[in-house]
Amino acid sequence: MQLIVKKNPADLAKAAAEFITKRIKDVLKKQDRFTIALSGGSTPKALHELLAKSPYVEQIPWLQLHVFWGDERYVPIDDPQSNAGMAYDTLLGHVYTPESQIHVWRTDLEPDAAAADYDRVLHDYFGDTGPTFDLVLLGMGDDGHTLSLFPGTEVVHEQTAWTKAFFLTQQAMYRLTLTAPLVNRASCVAFLVAGPKKAAPLKEVLEGEYDPDQYPSQVIKPTQGELIWLVDTQAAELITKR
Ligand code: 6PG
Repeated sequence: MQLIVKKNPADLAKAAAEFITKRIKDVLKKQDRFTIALSGGSTPKALHELLAKSPYVEQIPWLQLHVFWGDERYVPIDDPQSNAGMAYDTLLGHVYTPESQIHVWRTDLEPDAAAADYDRVLHDYFGDTGPTFDLVLLGMGDDGHTLSLFPGTEVVHEQTAWTKAFFLTQQAMYRLTLTAPLVNRASCVAFLVAGPKKAAPLKEVLEGEYDPDQYPSQVIKPTQGELIWLVDTQAAELITKR
């Protein structure tokens, strides 16, 4: 695991944009497509906006990108809460990745059918074994959740299924999410975490006892791939081992 601490959210977004651009270019020297899973929440917006403009936009071969989402809120894409909607507004609507290579969770199906549909798309794309994403971008909530793996939910312990739909009582909405068994087969997983509210959960996730029911981000441990935490100083405030 690598922990990279940047001074503030703006520097963090820049470091993430540089990291992603370099990773895409390096990987595309060895293969002809780069597969990324985007995250939702608010932190990635600044990163997306940077990637959509110079000096990053012209360095990234957008035609070779294949895009998925780690999780989705079960709302239509034009709802302000939609993770895909946010990514289109801030990034995908401004670059040339073909629509056929952008895999949005279907929120026009019933939640379980939407999860089954995404599972089929993922199996068709990756096959059943071997490495999966070239890069999974993740965020971490103030409660230590990541993806839609929330504290106290069963999906945190999923061992086999790649996708799940469930009703998140505390937000009174359905969530659609990838699970740890799939994400942990990625070549690289990078968390992007900023702000003072993340300091206590980040300390627990990185330095506390293993307690994924309370801090689900702890289940993210790529088996072969790299794990990188990109955080700002406020989020890293309580971290002792740097
Ligand atoms: C979601 C997410 C979620 C997010 C964290 C962090 O749809 O809610 O994908 O896991 O990454 O909640 O969100 P912030 O960046 O807003 O803190």
